[in-house]
Amino acid sequence: MEAYDLIKSRKAIRQYSGQITDEQLNEILTAANAGPVGMGEYKNYRLTVIQKADVLNKMSGIYDAPTVIVVSAKNPEAMEDVSAGAIVHNMELAAENLGLGANYNMSSLGSIPSGVLPSGFKAVFALTLGQTNEKLVTRSIPLDRIETNIVK
Ligand SMILES: Cc1cc2nc3c(=O)[nH]c(=O)nc-3n(C[C@H](O)[C@H](O)[C@H](O)COP(=O)(O)O)c2cc1C
Repeated sequence: MEAYDLIKSRKAIRQYSGQITDEQLNEILTAANAGPVGMGEYKNYRLTVIQKADVLNKMSGIYDAPTVIVVSAKNPEAMEDVSAGAIVHNMELAAENLGLGANYNMSSLGSIPSGVLPSGFKAVFALTLGQTNEKLVTRSIPLDRIETNIVK
């Protein structure tokens, strides 16, 4: 899909109908690695792909997603929070461009079982993912959805 069409049709998809393929996962992880992070310090972040039912069943607010990708960082502050947002947004767009369902997720972060994330890293943001029957349609986005001041 053209980039601008994808941006306008992207939406939160919370209904999943099956597991993603490893090829789809690799494309989404490539999109994560293409994301910008503050100071270019990629070593300060980790991606954790959770597809194990035992772990997913313990996590709340994931809408039965078969895959959750967690972005974590060491001692996250504002820069790491914003960078994790950029990483997750890249993955979300890549996933929906592949016809998958995806959504940003913060509500599950507190329910990630201990020992799942790398030692010393704290969950910042996550993406829920799966096959979906929902289709993207180009949305009419109101220009004032976010109130804007133009200073000129
Ligand atoms: C920082 C952030 C956190 C979010 N956390 C959640 C979440 O925990 N659960 C959820 O269902 N949606 C979550 N969302 C998705 C938003 O609810 C959704 O993007 C918003 O309502 C706009 O809808 P749209 O994405 O379909 O345009 C989050 C989005 C962002 C940017």
